[in-house]
Amino acid sequence: MNTNLGNNFLEVDLSIPKVALVQINRPDAMNALNGEVRRQLAQVFTELSFNDDVNAIVLTGGTKVFAAGADLKEMATAGSTEMLLRHTERYWNAIAQCPKPVIAAVNGYALGGGCELAMHADIIIAGKGAIFGQPEIKVGLMPGAGGTQRLFRAVGKFHAMRMIMTGVMVPAEEAYLIGLVSQVTEDEDTIPTALKMAQSLAKMPPIALQQIKEVALMSEDVPLNAGLTLERKSFQLLFSTEDKNEGINAFIEKRKPTYQGK
Ligand code: CAA
Repeated sequence: MNTNLGNNFLEVDLSIPKVALVQINRPDAMNALNGEVRRQLAQVFTELSFNDDVNAIVLTGGTKVFAAGADLKEMATAGSTEMLLRHTERYWNAIAQCPKPVIAAVNGYALGGGCELAMHADIIIAGKGAIFGQPEIKVGLMPGAGGTQRLFRAVGKFHAMRMIMTGVMVPAEEAYLIGLVSQVTEDEDTIPTALKMAQSLAKMPPIALQQIKEVALMSEDVPLNAGLTLERKSFQLLFSTEDKNEGINAFIEKRKPTYQGK
C-alpha cells in the first residue's frame, strides 16, 4: 500500500510487512526541510509510532540528495522571535521519540538539518556517493537541530568541531571511519540494504527492541550508575514478555522463534 500525504513531500510505502519506507520527495529544492516537510515528517513518525503493523522504519531521500538542510529561503527574513514561535523542536521531537528502530538510507547530500535528520535515526546506511556536513557556519548560522549535540556524541569533539566550525563536506567512507555512518554500500544498494535490515529487525521481539532503543539512547544523558540501573530494570521487565519465553524455548527446541510483541 502506498500512502501519500496531503502536500506530497513524503511518500510512505507500507508494502513490506511490518516495515515502513518513508521517502522525502521535494526534488526541486534539494529536499530542503521547510516547515511543511517537517510537519509531515512529525505526523508520519507519530502515526508510525502508534501503528502496530509497523516494527521498523526506513527513512530516505532521493538519489542526489537525502536532504540539503533547513529551507534557507524560508529562513531568509525570519527574526529570532519568529524562529522561536515556529517551535520546530516539536517536529524534531516526534522523530527523536519514535520508539521503533529507524534506519536512515542516505544517498547524496545530507547537509545541515539533513545530516541532523539522519542522526535522528538509530542506524545510518550510506551510499558511497553520500556526503555529510554541517555547513550552517557558511551562511552565518550554526546547527539548530542537534548538530552540536548528536554529532559531538557520535564522533567525538575533534571530528565534530572540524565539521561544525569549518562546514566541511565529509564523504561517506570518511563518515564511516569517524563513526557517523553504520555501513557504506554501493549507491544503488542503499535502500535495499536498509530495507533488508529493517525486515530482519521487524522479525525481532519488538518490546525488547524498543527497550534497547530507549535505554541505549538514555546513555547519552544519564550517569553510568543510573544507566546501568535503568538497563537492569528494562532487562528484568523483559522477563514478563511472552516473546522472552518464545525466544528461549525456540533456542532450546532448536527452531526459529516467532515473536508476537507481547
Ligand atoms: N534551502 C532552500 N533551498 C535550497 C537549499 C536549502 N537548504 N539547498 C538547495 N536549495 C535549492 C537551491 O536554491 C536551488 O534552487 P533554485 O533552482 O530555485 O535556484 C536548488 O535547490 C538546487 O540547488 P543548487 O543549484 O545549489 O544545487 P547544487 O547541486 O549546485 O548544490 C548543494 C547542492 C551542495 C546541496 C547546495 O544546494 C547547498 O549547499 N545547499 C545549502 C546547504 C546548506 O547550507 N544547508 C544548511 C541549511 S541551515 C540548517 O540546516 C539549519 C539547521 O540546522 C536546522
